[in-house]
Amino acid sequence: MTEQRPVTNDTATKVEKAKPALPDAQTVTFVKHWTDRLFSFRVTRPPSLRFRSGEFVMIGLMGDPDPATGKQKPLLRAYSIASPAWDDELEFYSIKVQDGPLTSKLQHIRPGDEIILRPKPVGTLVHDALLPGKRLWFFATGTGIAPFASLLRDPQTYEDYDEVILTHTCREVGELAYGAELIENIRSDELLAELIGEGFHEKLRYYPTTTREESPKMGRITDLMRSGDVFHDLGVPELTPETNRAMVCGNLAFNLEIKDMLEGYGLVEGANSNPQHYVVEKAFLD
Ligand SMILES: Cc1cc2nc3c(=O)[nH]c(=O)nc-3n(C[C@H](O)[C@H](O)[C@H](O)COP(=O)(O)OP(=O)(O)OC[C@H]3O[C@@H](n4cnc5c(N)ncnc54)[C@H](O)[C@@H]3O)c2cc1C
Ligand SMILES: NC(=O)c1ccc[n+]([C@@H]2O[C@H](COP(=O)([O-])OP(=O)(O)OC[C@H]3O[C@@H](n4cnc5c(N)ncnc54)[C@H](OP(=O)(O)O)[C@@H]3O)[C@@H](O)[C@H]2O)c1
Repeated sequence: MTEQRPVTNDTATKVEKAKPALPDAQTVTFVKHWTDRLFSFRVTRPPSLRFRSGEFVMIGLMGDPDPATGKQKPLLRAYSIASPAWDDELEFYSIKVQDGPLTSKLQHIRPGDEIILRPKPVGTLVHDALLPGKRLWFFATGTGIAPFASLLRDPQTYEDYDEVILTHTCREVGELAYGAELIENIRSDELLAELIGEGFHEKLRYYPTTTREESPKMGRITDLMRSGDVFHDLGVPELTPETNRAMVCGNLAFNLEIKDMLEGYGLVEGANSNPQHYVVEKAFLD
């Protein structure tokens, strides 16, 4: 007969610990709500996860149980990793879509909760997809700033370029807060200064604009480029394929419009397998 051992607290804990609550589970360590539509959060990083700054992964939560079978399936969505490749944790910057299958739930996570993270990073917004250049432009709308939050904290960005310009267009001023704090933190980050070299942040230019609420710079970045305002304000010439490189991340209409403009300046779209002058990625599917 099999010996029956009493389940002590100790053995019970061991059994509990051996069973992961979620497949590919990572623990939430920090959450910050920026507006009623935007939040950012950090999670533990799987020790085996290697990624290039600018890439995205699939993250999510378990979906509701199937009414017929009671089984739950993971509900996953693409998310740009907003933290740089060297960070111990992973950061994400997220929209809250009120009736969105994932974000209607994800917006309620708290430190200690678990999320699912599939450790297969991919994406086109990587340094490897661009030919060497002198000035790098990051063009973002809305949550499209997320991959650039990663790249802007990556030493390679400043090692490879003399000047790095982030443009961020949002509807309202409050939606710029995550980017504004990011830039402020980069400029005062001692670890980055040690890693990259004192004064590295002098290469970094920030150009935030709003379209539906008064702010120091109003207008869509595309219109401000057409009018020449951006180049005048920053004191830089229009883009040329000889010296300028660009990465674009925003809604579909924005991506298409700016892609046309970049082609008009003579820049050619690149990819991991064929590095060129600019790369584009959607910030969300529509
Ligand atoms: C390559 C890639 C990277 C992405 N990275 C991010 C990211 O870093 N942060 C992030 O918040 N989302 C990101 N998304 C969008 C994300 O995958 C989900 O769509 C989003 O989390 C909403 O999920 P949902 O299930 O709640 O709603 P969904 O059913 O996925 O979307 C419902 C609707 O909400 C709108 N919507 C979805 N995402 C956004 C958004 N980010 N901004 C504005 N409107 C949106 C669209 O109109 C969409 O049709 C990315 C998408 C792609 C394709
Ligand atoms: N942001 C909000 O306050 C809000 C509130 C409720 C619901 N929503 C919904 O959520 C979805 C996403 O909204 P979002 O504000 O996160 O993202 P968005 O609609 O993609 O807009 C983000 C920014 O990109 C600009 N933009 C849009 N198309 C462009 C183009 N072709 N060229 C240049 N710039 C362009 C917008 O300017 P314009 O303002 O000129 O379009 C806005 O400043 C939308 O379906 C929206 O209806 C948004």
